[in-house]
Amino acid sequence: MKRIALTGAVLLGSLMSFNLVAAELSAEEQAAQNVANRQAIFKLLSVSNAPLGAMARGGAYDGDAAKLAAQRLAILGGMIPAAFEADTSGVTGLTTRASTTIWGNKADFDKLAGDLVTAANEALATLEAQGEAGVRGAVGAIGPKCGACHDRYRLD
Ligand code: HEC
Repeated sequence: MKRIALTGAVLLGSLMSFNLVAAELSAEEQAAQNVANRQAIFKLLSVSNAPLGAMARGGAYDGDAAKLAAQRLAILGGMIPAAFEADTSGVTGLTTRASTTIWGNKADFDKLAGDLVTAANEALATLEAQGEAGVRGAVGAIGPKCGACHDRYRLD
């Protein structure tokens, strides 16, 4: 019993010091972390979108893979608004292509993320209803949603 209590105390202690370390991140380090997190979402969006693109270009159709891709795009797209909650526009030295105009137009930015989620959900419905015949339409609905946001809010 004593040993369990001691283990608990040690665990709690290390959790608390972990929290302290987290709180001690400088504003720059925190911003760099935010940038890395949101770029991770976009990398996964790209990875998730790839199989659909390949199928639309005439690759072998795999219905399960196509539907899974659409589901992943919907989930990842839904993570974009929160990932940009932290305004990093005033932080220098970041390696980011995010336009500083995002935070003055956050509602518009969030709407473009919502458009991607809607398109991914519609693509899923199309794939469920039409199977292979729907794959080009599904991809055609998603790609422009990526581009619409990049045109406005991603730097070259
Ligand atoms: C609501 C806006 C928005 C949408 C929708 C969006 N993107 Fe982006 N994307 C961005 C912004 C902003 C960046 C720059 C992020 C940064 O560097 O901090 C970015 C960066 C990226 C990157 C580079 C990531 C890196 O490693 O630096 C890739 C790849 C990418 N997007 C792919 C996609 C794909 C694929 C889609 C659609 C399935 C998509 N994006 C939809 C805004 C968007």
